[in-house]
Amino acid sequence: MSGPPFGLAFPGREQALAEALSPALGHLRVARRAPDAAVTLVEGDNLEVLKLLSDELRGTIDAIYVDPPYNRGRDFVYRGVYSADAKSWRGPRGRRADPQDAAARRTAPWLAMMLPRLLLARDLLRDSGVLFVSIDDAEVHHLRMLLDEVFGRERFVAQIVVVSNRGGRDYLPVAVTHEYVLCYGNGDHPRVAELPKATELPLRDALGPYELRELRNRNPRFTPLNRRNLDYPIWVDRALTDEAGCFAVSLQPSPSGLEVNPRNSTGGGSVWRWGKEKLAAAIVAGDPQASGVVARRRRDGGHNIYEKCRKQTTKARALWDDPKMRSEQGSIELRAALGAALFDHPKPIELVRRCVELGCGPDGVVLDFFAGSGTTALAVAEQNRRDGGRRRCILVQWPEPTPPSSLAHKAGFLDVAAIAAARLEHAFGNHRVASLVWHPGPAGRRVAKPRRP
Ligand SMILES: C[S@@+](CC[C@H](N)C(=O)[O-])C[C@H]1O[C@@H](n2cnc3c(N)ncnc32)[C@H](O)[C@@H]1O
Repeated sequence: MSGPPFGLAFPGREQALAEALSPALGHLRVARRAPDAAVTLVEGDNLEVLKLLSDELRGTIDAIYVDPPYNRGRDFVYRGVYSADAKSWRGPRGRRADPQDAAARRTAPWLAMMLPRLLLARDLLRDSGVLFVSIDDAEVHHLRMLLDEVFGRERFVAQIVVVSNRGGRDYLPVAVTHEYVLCYGNGDHPRVAELPKATELPLRDALGPYELRELRNRNPRFTPLNRRNLDYPIWVDRALTDEAGCFAVSLQPSPSGLEVNPRNSTGGGSVWRWGKEKLAAAIVAGDPQASGVVARRRRDGGHNIYEKCRKQTTKARALWDDPKMRSEQGSIELRAALGAALFDHPKPIELVRRCVELGCGPDGVVLDFFAGSGTTALAVAEQNRRDGGRRRCILVQWPEPTPPSSLAHKAGFLDVAAIAAARLEHAFGNHRVASLVWHPGPAGRRVAKPRRP
């Protein structure tokens, strides 16, 4: 089927694609070696740094977390070759006043900045690697289309809603209480771990803790007509009970047994989740204590059939509403480390830690190439502390100058990379922070390759 191309078109797109493919400029110099580094901080524009890192790290990164400028107000500085093109773009037929054009003029440079960086980032990920990107309403729709293009729509994993401000920012007709984390996998089988269940399993038998999970199939699409193998009677023997007061079940009718058939919530015909073979393997005849399936009496006198479910983990949910993930928490944490709020809007450690927990196994490497004050390194360390992991972390931060009137500047931090460095040294000590600095330089000069941290 042919037709107009589907996807994001924006001025500067071709140059942005060319940027991703052009050779790296400059080189990286080792500013501090740390053989036992927990974190490597790379100072420089992430476009060139990602290209330089890709020689050595292509296909090796387990998880990337980034918190790019959200393209609100002045958080994104127009630079580079696309700016002139995008700023002068007047939209179809040269009109300028159309608000749609104004929005495009604002978004296009941002997309042109993000596109090559995301392409380079994807190539750094392992096949099972995962990318997490924080973003808010201003650009989430564009970013999702961009990521669909870079990773493939089928590699979309989740659009997580993070409650960042419960009270809401109420300058809009509807007060905004949340932002997002977009998650994409690099290959067909992204590693997205399950999380420990919030509460302990309530029951226990000789095999350990468990909870009861109904064997009735709740999927309304499955019926006795289309799943005949899941529609059969189970017999409940009320003479045999376990410690939790559950009854033994059997596939064989018995004189004292009660016949139970699958029923939906309105009493209509339904099916079980398991076929007879699987059920037979789980039942220990006459011993509900050892059996993997038991029955319980309902208030109306009928009986429900339950699986003893021993799984201690559960899938992450797409809504994260945790006081430790509120925006203000990030500033509190930075103030606690450096004595003052030297950087606007650092992310809460817990939010990034959750991404690390989901996306990176205990020996993996996490990359953040919009590092800001370095929160991701602290999140990696916190996850290591919790599960005994040995994850390492690479941060890339442009030495963006701090405004002369800012608290940071007055405190002697002339750029954002210096704030990150101070925070990392505070958290890890000098000997565990390696650092590299990007320098412009003619091609062919010695290029100091970054060491894996
Ligand atoms: C929203 S902040 C990230 C904050 C960070 N998550 C934290 O918790 O501190 C985005 C950061 O990306 C940096 N940045 C923007 N463009 C960059 C570039 N081209 N290369 C490297 N860093 C860049 C900015 O200086 C800013 O510090």
